[in-house]
Formats: sequence, structure tokens, C-alpha cells
Amino acid sequence: MPSTVLVGCQWGDEGKGKITDLIAKKFDYVVRYQGGNNAGHTVIHGDTKLALHLMPSGVMYDDAVPVIGNGVVVDPGVFVKEKALLESEGISVKNLKISCNAHVIMPYHKVLDGAEEKRLGENQIGTTKRGIGPCYQDKAARRGIRVQDLLDEKIFRLKVETALQQKNPLLQKVYGLQTFTVEEICDEYLPYARIMKPYMAETSILLNEALSNGKNVLFEGAQGTMLDIDHGTYPYVTSSSCCAGGACIGSGVGPKAIDRALGICKAYVTRVGGGPFPTELKFPEEGGTGQDALDGELLCDVGHEYGVTTGRKRRCGWFDAVVARYAASVNGLTDIALTKLDVLSAFDTIKVCVAYEYEGERYEHFPQQQSVLFHAKPIYEELPGWKGEDISGCRKYEELPANTRAYVEYLEEVTGVPMSIISVGADRDATIFRSGDWGE
Ligand code: IMP
Repeated sequence: MPSTVLVGCQWGDEGKGKITDLIAKKFDYVVRYQGGNNAGHTVIHGDTKLALHLMPSGVMYDDAVPVIGNGVVVDPGVFVKEKALLESEGISVKNLKISCNAHVIMPYHKVLDGAEEKRLGENQIGTTKRGIGPCYQDKAARRGIRVQDLLDEKIFRLKVETALQQKNPLLQKVYGLQTFTVEEICDEYLPYARIMKPYMAETSILLNEALSNGKNVLFEGAQGTMLDIDHGTYPYVTSSSCCAGGACIGSGVGPKAIDRALGICKAYVTRVGGGPFPTELKFPEEGGTGQDALDGELLCDVGHEYGVTTGRKRRCGWFDAVVARYAASVNGLTDIALTKLDVLSAFDTIKVCVAYEYEGERYEHFPQQQSVLFHAKPIYEELPGWKGEDISGCRKYEELPANTRAYVEYLEEVTGVPMSIISVGADRDATIFRSGDWGE
């Protein structure tokens, strides 16, 4: 299997976890390259469902080396908690590697994340309040604390002291909040450091050596294209490079190391947090009315659209081909895995947004100007559904009802990308492989 980057094509929560879980065993290394514990994926181990936020999916496989790359921001407390959770389930993390250059989420990052959201009031981003943005801010400002700094107690203390000279006045004077002491941070973090030490590694060197030796690497994106700091719906984005290109930066490999870009698209769209969402079917509590509000509620209920990390109800809408085409171009997608197709069995007809309309103009491309995007009206094509037909037992493409196949083929036409994997249920085997190389 050629080295592959797997990316979300919408606003996250596309079902990347299940697809990663399905294909990870074909790879020798599974690497997370951005984000932190703002991500959330549920992995199934025997009869138990485990909610992971930081660990790469590769931890589930004995033969794969899971890697937390330099582009990830690491909350040591979460690392230690997830390690313990996995071990309590009999899953060893002995192969796990964590980059020495990854940045560390500090206690003040979490407090500042919440404080800044509060300050923004109704314009807030809707962050996960895990300290992700403030940690990346410090990284870019060249004052961050890295995983390697945890190796040396003296250096760590010094770095915390220096950081607090800037953070404490900010906390106190700008936000009116409590300050931190060096001691309390060291007391909490140094024991974590001792647990993390055996896993710390020069992961860029490790991965490049592995690639030279013909090993296959899966780069596992978190969040999604529309949450990318550069290419997403800025400022309503996360603070890292979720797109395929981020895999090189966040793991320290060159662009030629990646042969394939598999995009994950849900058969409809969801978004958590604030920001523009052209195909949103507003819930009644958000001012939605009529059929749209009913359709939105139905997508949320049938699709169980509640956040793994925050438990928040996700905003729901119809498939947006403008977004998918944009994701295809920004990520250079080679193929798409279409997820949660079974959820659409609840509808008589299914809409697909093929373009936007703004002030009488038709937009086929994703508009770069925020003012256009915020007011863009979706132009829909309505397709016949397959209501009442249970597709979750289908394992071959030909077994799907004709209208389901027509929907998939329509999406291929409007996105311009082949759909090689189709997920028809939460279970691992509720999957249709249309191209031989991803299958068993
Ligand atoms: P942050 O990543 O916590 O800073 O949040 C920034 C934005 O990204 C917010 O709108 C979050 O809801 C969203 N976000 C972050 N992580 C995820 C995810 O894993 N799935 C979906 N949305 C996410």
C-alpha cells in the first residue's frame, strides 16, 4: 500500500476514525501530524468503545508504529490518561513514538482558550477549550515549550518561569484571572514527563528512514479541510494545517513521500462551533423553521451527531459539492471514502448543493471572500431517495438500491473524484470497497 495521507474534507467529524481503523493495518507507521486532543475518535476494541483524543489510531495495531508528529500539540495529562486507558484494556503502547519537537499544551493555554472565547462573546469561535489555539500561538511566537524541554527539569523550570513572565500579567490584567506559579506547574508536569520519556523520539528521522526502507506510512489528519488555518473558513478554524500538505510539515517528510490522498466525506455535512455553513439546516432552537428544521433534526438524530470531545449537538446540512470540490483541489485528492450513507435512508428525497448564489451571481468555486461566503445561498439539485431500504447490510456496490448508487455516482460527477470506499454503518464490516486495493 503506498504511503497515504487521510484528510477530512468538511468541518471535521467525517468519520475519519472508522476509515483509519479499517486501513491502518495495511501500514507500518500511523502518524498524527497536527491538532491535539481537540480531535476525538471512537475506536472499537472487542466489545468496548474507547474514545481517544490524542493517540494515533495506530495504537490499536500491534504491527503498526503509532507516531505523534512534531506538528501535534500535546497535553501531557491527556497523554498519560489515554495511555492508562489503553493499557487497562490490554492494549500495549510500547511502539508509540512522540516527537521531541511537538509543542506542549500548558495549563495557562487552557485557561486562556476559555477566557478568549468569553471575551469574544457572540463572535466566539466555539473552540474545544483544550488550549489548542494558545499553544500554537506560542509556537508561532517562538516562545513555546516543547516535549524535549520536559527531559531536563532545569530547562523546563526555566522555560516555565520565562513563560509566566508573559502569561501571568496577561491572565491578571487583560482577563482578570488567577495567575500560575512555577511550582504548581512543575509539580503537575514533571511526573508526566517521567511517564512520557520512554516514548520521545526524533520522529522525522525515524519516518524518513522507514520510508527509505520501503515502509508504508499513513498520515492521519484530524479536524478537516474547512477548519484548516490557511484554507478553512478563517477565523472560524482550528490553529493548525489539517490539509494534506500539513502532513509534510507536521511530520518532517518531503512531499514525494506521499503517494495518495484519501479524502473523507460524510454523505451530508456537519459542523461544530461558529462560522459560515452554507448548507446548514438550522435547528428550531437556532431559528430554523419548516421542512429544513425537520430535516436538520432528522440528520442529527439518525446520524447521532453529538461531539465525542465536547458532547455538543453538531449543526447539520446537506452535502456541499462546492466544499468537496475545494477539498479535492486543496488536498490533491486521489479518491474519497464516503461515510454514513445509511443515515440518508431516512429521507424521501436528498439534496446536494452544486453551487452558491450571492447577489445574483453563481459561484461554482468556494468563495475566498468572507462576505460572500457568509451570505451564500446554496443552489440544490434534489435526488430521489431510497427511504425505508436498509442499506447497512450491503457489502457489495451492486447490492445497493439503484437510487443509492445514483446518489454516489452523482457525487462522483459533481466532485470529480472517485469514491473508493463507502461506509454504510458504524461497524467495521459495514463497508463497501469499490477499489480492490483498500479491501481485505
Ligand atoms: P479548537 O481546535 O479547539 O481551537 O477549535 C476551533 C474550531 O475547530 C471550533 O469550531 C471547534 O469546534 C472546531 N474543531 C476542533 N476540533 C474539531 C474536531 O475534531 N471536529 C470538529 N470540529 C473541531
